[in-house]
Amino acid sequence: MQVETGSQMTTETTEQRPIVSGFGSQATVADIVSGINVHGKTAVVTGGNSGIGLETTRALFQAGAAVVVGARDLERAEQQLAGTGRIEMVELDLAEPDPVDRFAETFLRSHSGLDFLINHSSINPSRYLHLRYTHP
Ligand SMILES: NC(=O)c1ccc[n+]([C@@H]2O[C@H](COP(=O)([O-])OP(=O)(O)OC[C@H]3O[C@@H](n4cnc5c(N)ncnc54)[C@H](OP(=O)(O)O)[C@@H]3O)[C@@H](O)[C@H]2O)c1
Repeated sequence: MQVETGSQMTTETTEQRPIVSGFGSQATVADIVSGINVHGKTAVVTGGNSGIGLETTRALFQAGAAVVVGARDLERAEQQLAGTGRIEMVELDLAEPDPVDRFAETFLRSHSGLDFLINHSSINPSRYLHLRYTHP
C-alpha cells in the first residue's frame, strides 16, 4: 500500500489475513444466499444494474429482500435486470447532488426504512484501459 504524506510517498506493508467466510473461489450466489432469509428487509443497490452490483441485486432478491436499484439510465437498467424479478428502479446519477436528492426523496416517499445500502456505483478502470488500447 502506498501512502502519500505531504510531498513524500511511503510504502507500508499490512499483513493480509483470510476473512474465513466459509466460501471459496468456486462459491456461487446461490451458495451464499442459501439459508439466508431477508424477507421484509429493504435494500438499495447503487449501480445494481451492472457487474458486481447486478449479482448483488440478484442475490438480495433471491434471499427475499425488496431491492431498489439506483441507475443512471433506466431503459438500459431495465434490459440488464430483465428476468431478475420485481426490482424497483429509480434514476440516480451520483456525479451531481440534485439527482442524489431526487433519488432520496423518491425513496423516502415509498419506503419506511432501509436495511441494506450497497454503494456499488463506481468507475471500473479496466474499461478505460480497454478504450486506450482499442483507440490509441
Ligand atoms: N468486476 C470485478 O471482477 C472486480 C474485481 C475487483 C474490483 N472491482 C471493482 O469493483 C467496482 C465495480 O466493478 P464492476 O465490474 O461491478 O463495475 P461496473 O459493471 O462498471 O459497474 C459500475 C456501476 O457503477 C455505475 N456508475 C458509474 N458512475 C456512476 C454515477 N456517476 N452515478 C451512478 N452510477 C454510476 C455504473 O452505471 P452505468 O451502467 O450507467 O455505467 C455501473 O452500474 C469497480 O470499482 C471495480 O474496479 C471489480
